[in-house]
Amino acid sequence: MSEKSSAFVPNPEYLLQVHQLKQYFPISTGFLKTTMLKAVDNVSFDIRRGETLGLVGESGCGKTTVGRSILYLYKPTDGEIWFDGKRLGDKASLQAFRRRAQMVFQDPYSSLNPRMTVADIVAEPIDVHHLCATRGEREERIHELMQLVGLNTEHATRYAHEFSGGQRQRIGIARALASRPEFIVCDEPVSALDVSIQAQVINMLEDLQKQLGLTYLFIAHDISVVKHISNRIAVMYLGHMMEMAASNELTRHPVHPYTISLMSAVPVPDPQQSRKQKRIVLQGDVPSPLRMPSGCPFRTRCSRATKACEESRPEMREVAPGHFVACHHL
Ligand SMILES: Nc1ncnc2c1ncn2[C@@H]1O[C@H](COP(=O)(O)OP(=O)(O)OP(=O)(O)O)[C@@H](O)[C@H]1O
Ligand SMILES: [Mg+2]
Repeated sequence: MSEKSSAFVPNPEYLLQVHQLKQYFPISTGFLKTTMLKAVDNVSFDIRRGETLGLVGESGCGKTTVGRSILYLYKPTDGEIWFDGKRLGDKASLQAFRRRAQMVFQDPYSSLNPRMTVADIVAEPIDVHHLCATRGEREERIHELMQLVGLNTEHATRYAHEFSGGQRQRIGIARALASRPEFIVCDEPVSALDVSIQAQVINMLEDLQKQLGLTYLFIAHDISVVKHISNRIAVMYLGHMMEMAASNELTRHPVHPYTISLMSAVPVPDPQQSRKQKRIVLQGDVPSPLRMPSGCPFRTRCSRATKACEESRPEMREVAPGHFVACHHL
């Protein structure tokens, strides 16, 4: 990430600000030949303190890469990340940030070491950041965290593989909370879980947010998963931001043709309404990020696409207060 001074002026109202984030991965395409896979290209957004921003889009559109890049698990190719008024990048800024920002991973089966006890998994951040002075204090804190996520403290010495998916995700959440973070990236935290327990885990994350004053970036495939938990929703397609608005506004008045197609796939509880709803099935597949279309990334699947969409990439424009859309045909 270039450390050159920029014209970007941070706004103290926001806990996190992401400005023109790029994450490119070099991919080998033959002998001594590499090409750049643009997993995230020029993505900007911000999150207020205590807010939940939902991030949605199809598989491979770059959601996890955004989450990992803003936590500096991947060093961004370019762009700026500001946290609590400070720009991230140098060693000192990252050291403090790594305690204050955490991630809950998509798959609680692969993200927890099955040969570690619950206590040692939960205590990882405590040990890394030297947060407890004595063994007794450490044990007390582990029990406190387990109670916070509804786990039986008598199970602290059991191994992760002895637990069900839902309980494993509770262990993952307890670990994320151990360093008393202010910001958490929840990367599809319930998509690997049984439908019957997804709501329990989402409700718990909502309760924890209120109780601890947390700020979330909540990643999901599906708008219906994030609709209730998010204050605002951002929609990504092929590494680009397509639309962003307050949750109610985005679900009731989607503007981008891509968001409209995503919304048409969301089931409605009222059968009469459901019969009226027209399902929009997108033509073709998502193009490979190695062969990005010119102009608008969505144009190859868009019913409104014209010459203008081939020629230039639409910028995000504010179409109503706080409602941003990147489309030439508004
Ligand atoms: N470490 C990496 N090296 C190379 N390419 C990567 C890497 N991580 C992700 N990619 C590529 O970047 C693109 C975005 O991937 P990412 O995992 O961020 O998508 P996603 O939206 O989280 O998908 P899903 O919903 O399936 O989790 C994909 O084309 C993926 O293959
Ligand atoms: Mg992902």
